[in-house]
Amino acid sequence: MPTRQGVNWDRAQRVLAREREAFIAARPKSQALSARAAQHLLFGVPLHWMNDWSTPFSLYVETARGATFTDADGHRYADFCLGDTGAMFGHAPEPVGRALAAQAARGFTTMLPGEDAAVVGEALAERFGLPYWQFAMTASDANRFALRWARAATGRQQIVVFNGCYHGTVDDVFVDLVDGRPTQRASLLGQVHNLLPYTRVVEFNDLGALERALADGEVACVLAEPAMTNVGMVLPEPGFWREAQALMRRCGTLLAIDETHTISSGPRGYAQAHGIEADLFVLGKPVGGGVPCAVYGFSAEFAARAQQAKLDAPPGHSGIGTTLTANMLSMSAMRATLTEVMTDAAYEHMFALAARLADGLSATIARHALPWCVTRVGARTEFQFCTTPPRNGTEARAAMDDELEHLVHLYLLNRGVLITPFHNMMLVCPDTTTADIDRLLEAFDACLAELK
Ligand SMILES: Cc1ncc(COP(=O)(O)O)c(C=O)c1O
Repeated sequence: MPTRQGVNWDRAQRVLAREREAFIAARPKSQALSARAAQHLLFGVPLHWMNDWSTPFSLYVETARGATFTDADGHRYADFCLGDTGAMFGHAPEPVGRALAAQAARGFTTMLPGEDAAVVGEALAERFGLPYWQFAMTASDANRFALRWARAATGRQQIVVFNGCYHGTVDDVFVDLVDGRPTQRASLLGQVHNLLPYTRVVEFNDLGALERALADGEVACVLAEPAMTNVGMVLPEPGFWREAQALMRRCGTLLAIDETHTISSGPRGYAQAHGIEADLFVLGKPVGGGVPCAVYGFSAEFAARAQQAKLDAPPGHSGIGTTLTANMLSMSAMRATLTEVMTDAAYEHMFALAARLADGLSATIARHALPWCVTRVGARTEFQFCTTPPRNGTEARAAMDDELEHLVHLYLLNRGVLITPFHNMMLVCPDTTTADIDRLLEAFDACLAELK
């Protein structure tokens, strides 16, 4: 019997064919909308990633509220993807909706600040402990701008990233270790610049490699998630960040921490909870409750150097910022999210349910004797096709299996449960209920029973 990741692969193929048919049969309206959209949208969707799901055609959404959404055919789903973190605090949180409605009557964008700017700055400083802040429309842009400021402030050109990282569509970071050698990602479309001279890539949890990468004093900053979440999940080993930070300080390299996903670990993020002191802090996606915006913060010392760099530069465009950045709608959404939505109580609920989910997944995997493991960072849980959690990007990549992922995702989706299309991430929001968790676990159990 051919097995793959402990699964009976012949049977898996039959289950997949059946699930695809079931998906198609139950969703005539999504199918019709897909066909209609294909007349004018490239690949039939507004963003080509929307075809990266496990489904034969895109699912079209009718409404999304709290922890659930309804598709065009009237099916209701427990949503554990939550817009891949954009809706980590639930779809359309009431305080954000209220703030947006109030702001909508008072203007959308002026390229000038209002009172919300001051309030949001105070809320960010108080929450994340960094004194100065700037804004962007996406986490990709916030990371891109953070790198620009870091290079400008230090006068250094190099950056360091961890193998398997993702920080949005920031060209600089698409350098992987392939057989131990830095390699530019071949899938990048239209990228004509050689990224290798300016980006150094090392394995997560490898202090020796980090030390060698920083040794010549040419590195402006290390850009990192405090725990990796985009190559499956990779947690830092005990002491890793303490030692890594000591190395960076010794080499005059800044640390830029991207908490866009790891904000799942607590209301102040992973770094603060684990004693990591960032010079630069990036947060996008859920910071506006799902409204497009992102923030990045500066330590006092780095802020002074960044401001000096701007003052020293010739007049003209800095290459940092976009016209709609910090528009009035997104500022009002951030104010509501930071002051009313990202509460300790919301996180307590999320943690309790995520723990129930992670425990339930582990028990199900053990019951079916599959060589898989489960990792959790606060409200974010992931199962991976390896017996023990991976220690770095190479190990994590080796545990990935796109076809099997898609089969499991489709199986769950046909039973009213949505998880992230990329790897096996599940996020719990303040509106998630124990019934939602149990529904996921029941479907997961049924899936494994069929595949084993
Ligand atoms: C850690 C991290 N940073 C940044 C981004 C980019 O976010 P966006 O696509 O909203 O720009 C992502 C997206 O998944 C991410 O996971």
